[in-house]
Amino acid sequence: MEQINDYMCRYKNFNFVKNITTAEYIDSLQSFEIRDSDIFLVTYPKSGTIWTQQIIISICDLGGGLNEYSNNLKQMPWLEYTEGREDYSLRRSPRLFSSHLTPALMPPELKDKKAKIIYVMRNPKDNIVSYYHFSSTFADLETPKSFEWLLEQFVKGNVPSSSWFDHIREWHLKKDQYNILFLTYEDMILDLKTAVTKICRFLGKNLREEAIEQVVEKSTFKTMKKDSKANYEFIPEERFSGKFLRKGQIGDWKNIFTVAQSERIDKVLQEKLGDLSLKFIWE
Ligand code: A3P
Repeated sequence: MEQINDYMCRYKNFNFVKNITTAEYIDSLQSFEIRDSDIFLVTYPKSGTIWTQQIIISICDLGGGLNEYSNNLKQMPWLEYTEGREDYSLRRSPRLFSSHLTPALMPPELKDKKAKIIYVMRNPKDNIVSYYHFSSTFADLETPKSFEWLLEQFVKGNVPSSSWFDHIREWHLKKDQYNILFLTYEDMILDLKTAVTKICRFLGKNLREEAIEQVVEKSTFKTMKKDSKANYEFIPEERFSGKFLRKGQIGDWKNIFTVAQSERIDKVLQEKLGDLSLKFIWE
């Protein structure tokens, strides 16, 4: 891995948080054996990962009794991290994984289209704001010099997981190669029950109405705040002094973006993703 600065390494065109994985491990994913029953959640950081983890885990729990680990991080580990890794071939099905990787770095067997991928996207302005607060409080990440500075790093892709724009683009362009469900953070905020129902259907879990309501209840911002298995508050404070469940809203960007910054993102969005006809909800 090429070390970029004190916080980040680069391998195969992708930025990783330092010490979180190795080149050998990323290469080994090319021969990672996929089971048809595997479920992957793929996101760009700060798009609603721990939220969707809670939804998927709750659905699998109510629809099959999957509840073996002490927290959601262990139940749905990061595919690409060596930290906390175990021999996943020993896990019972369905195995659940989270990932921030781009298609090129994912196990090629996923293209057999049997295992399922849920991809969650968030509007880039709220994504940047969430990233800004997160990197200000997470010791593994470089503390932003200012919001403007972070915004520039984000636009250039000089952040862990590289460019948001490339991430969205690559997953959308490759979508026909995978069994993939695209969701947005905003759709989940506006109608959580419909999002949960969609995920159930995609996962082939035929939950009864009351069970769906239970999943929704377990996944609200308010409930997750109090759920120590789901809210990642088990991370030691000296490593992370913020909150994964910070505000949980659409449109927080309006509290921090200047008009010029907003127009800059609109412009880059149009240049980089304009041809994909994606719909964004900004408030
Ligand atoms: P904010 O920082 O804007 O509040 P990730 O899990 O990918 O790191 O994303 C974190 C973002 O998802 C945070 O956004 C967090 O508040 C939001 N989030 C987590 N759980 C949520 C929930 N149940 N409802 C709404 N937003 C949630």
